Amino acid sequence: MNTVEEFQQRLMTQATLAFPGRKMVLGEGVLGGKICMIGEAPGAEEEKQGHPFVGKAGKNLTEFLNAVGLNRDDLYITNVVKIRPFRLSPKTGKPINRPPDTQEKGFFTPFLLEELDIVNAEYIVTLGNVPLKAVMQKEAITIGEVHGRLLISPSGKKVFPLYHPAAVIYNQKLSAVYGEDLQKLKQLL
Ligand code: URA
Repeated sequence: MNTVEEFQQRLMTQATLAFPGRKMVLGEGVLGGKICMIGEAPGAEEEKQGHPFVGKAGKNLTEFLNAVGLNRDDLYITNVVKIRPFRLSPKTGKPINRPPDTQEKGFFTPFLLEELDIVNAEYIVTLGNVPLKAVMQKEAITIGEVHGRLLISPSGKKVFPLYHPAAVIYNQKLSAVYGEDLQKLKQLL
């Protein structure tokens, strides 16, 4: 079994070649624990601080976790894409977030699947469509259809899909659904 250090070193080396000059935000947290949580990609704040889910979506995630008695320190948290996907705003010329593209997802997904083996958590909790599709290795699956249900990934891992916490910020109707899904997750644990 590869160690997390060896894995991260190899990921950094290869990602630096593929995406030169880009800051990387790696996964972090408990190995062999109950939950590995996976987001889409880091945003501006995550890139600045070098940690996953420390910006607005992270604050939302932490509140939801606390509401069901879970703590960030009990988990491993990572993203599918380890660099911040951005484009330049036509108005300000400054970088703004965009969804990860096919090249970014294609490069980082095999690393994510390897990371999941190393992290070896009992449950994988995907946040939104990007990690769901990556872990289930299926483009046709969508979060609207499978959220709050236990799935088994092609490699035999237990996967519990949640909406992305940022989607909940922008859609209040999802808030109640999100709360229910988290309760289901809590009952599973
Ligand atoms: N959104 C994500 O998907 N990941 C982060 O790390 C932050 C925001």
